[in-house]
Amino acid sequence: MTLMIGIPREIAAGEKRAATVPDVVEKLIKLGFKVAVESGAGDAANFSDDVYRAAGAEIIDGAAKLWSASDIVFKVRGPTAGEVGLMREGGTLVSFIWPAQNPELMQQLAAKKATVLAIDALPRMLSRAQKMDALTSMAGITGYRAVIEAANAFGRFFNGQITAAGKVPPAKVFIAGAGVAGLAAIGTAVGLGAIVRANDTRPEVGDQVKSMGGEFVKVDYEEEGSGGGGYARVMSEGFQQAQREMYAKQAKEVDIIITTALIPGKPAPKLITAEMVKSMKPGSVIVDLAAEQGGNCELTEPGQAVVKHGVTIIGYTDLPSRLAKQSSTLYATNLFRLTEELCKTKDGVINVNMEDDAIRGLTVIKEGNITWPAPAPKLSAAPAKAAAAKVAAPAAKGHGHGGSSEPMAAGKLAIMFGVAAVLFLLIGAYAPAAFLGHFTVFVLACFVGYMVVWNVTPALHTPLMSVTNAISSIIAIGALVQIAPPAMGGINRPDTWILGLAVAGIALTSVNMFGGFAVTQRMLAMFRK
Ligand code: NAI
Repeated sequence: MTLMIGIPREIAAGEKRAATVPDVVEKLIKLGFKVAVESGAGDAANFSDDVYRAAGAEIIDGAAKLWSASDIVFKVRGPTAGEVGLMREGGTLVSFIWPAQNPELMQQLAAKKATVLAIDALPRMLSRAQKMDALTSMAGITGYRAVIEAANAFGRFFNGQITAAGKVPPAKVFIAGAGVAGLAAIGTAVGLGAIVRANDTRPEVGDQVKSMGGEFVKVDYEEEGSGGGGYARVMSEGFQQAQREMYAKQAKEVDIIITTALIPGKPAPKLITAEMVKSMKPGSVIVDLAAEQGGNCELTEPGQAVVKHGVTIIGYTDLPSRLAKQSSTLYATNLFRLTEELCKTKDGVINVNMEDDAIRGLTVIKEGNITWPAPAPKLSAAPAKAAAAKVAAPAAKGHGHGGSSEPMAAGKLAIMFGVAAVLFLLIGAYAPAAFLGHFTVFVLACFVGYMVVWNVTPALHTPLMSVTNAISSIIAIGALVQIAPPAMGGINRPDTWILGLAVAGIALTSVNMFGGFAVTQRMLAMFRK
């Protein structure tokens, strides 16, 4: 049976995006699905009904008909209570949900026996998940558009110019928070010719800022700002004081401030005080991308552009919608990549496979059962201590997740050691001497190997494997001994065929060795942004 994917018109005020675009409709049909689009769904993003129809979609008039015809609904914004009412019992929904902030919506959807994939719940650190990461694609657009909004409100050029009418200095832009949106803003502002500086509490961001052409400005205070999973955490009062001093200095110097600082599950940190705004040059601009979460600037009014103390403060919360065609296209592609993962058989049916880390993370409700929050994915690039903390938390609540990762009870451990000691004693007493030597090396190798692998972040296991592979090519020594002349420690000239085998052995093991190191280099380069 071929399933129908339905795209309702977004009804939230000011929402101009559509959850799919005509190009993607064609691809979904190739995957075996039927696609229905509510009449007018793409109007605000410049995709007319006719273009969707030409791509193979059925155009349906009215939300009620569209929702009831659809087995799977793709949306941008989470549904309203009214929309949930229109949903088919047992249907599937893919959209932004933000389950932590919307417990009521979760209950309503669960009551509909729905299966819900919240695109915001994607485990972003899984490299396989990046193609589905709508948070990243939307944040990139937000950062870009923030600079465009700033340029629009700013009364001067961004780039420095020497003209017959005089010399124009380049604009100075300061970016607070260099996550996805911040880095996109740096790239855009640098592209327009501004001098760009940025700050973040996570020190590892420094290199990324530089690679985008910006200058990283550090807070003069030693404190680690990473809160795990690539996100930030709330900083100490001492750090915040030092940060405020640095920001106050920047505010006096720069023309434009773009703030993007967010901490998951917390109100946005207040970084720009009213005093700092007052100290800025008249005509300066602040764009506050954290407006929806309370704002990084004390004077921001969410959804508005206001002028205070001669500074334009932009708190728009609809920046992706201000670039609706682009954001719809990227969002549609993210959802298409997700659909590919759900429908590996390409026959128009989906399999919400809870064994798959990415799908498990996204699935917040499965057939009416709330499955959010998902346990931490097994293969995470997050530092080991963050992963350990996440595993420990549910265990403490008595849910019993991650039982295998729990520390073994002390009693059990003592018994195991006891049994092992007795076994070794028996082996020592009765085994032949030659065996004992090998056995000791074997036991030590197991121990060292275990300790090495266990202490490495899972995301680095593949580079570790390749480097181990390269090192294991030490077997080349055996072949070298065969072909080396006796004076250099080799054995007496062996048979030609042994010589041949030794040469072949060296050639093959060299591929392993150099190939292993080359692959390791490439893998590690992927972690150095
Ligand atoms: P976000 O939107 O939660 O936060 C934006 C930025 O604000 C972050 O860089 C954060 O460190 C910074 N910030 C928070 N509090 C601050 C403060 N008081 N002062 C200054 N800066 C502050 O983060 P976003 O953009 O969603 O990404 C977070 C991280 O996740 C980034 O490092 C990004 O590269 C990483 N990421 C990794 C992905 C992957 O590996 N596939 C995918 C997406 C993001």
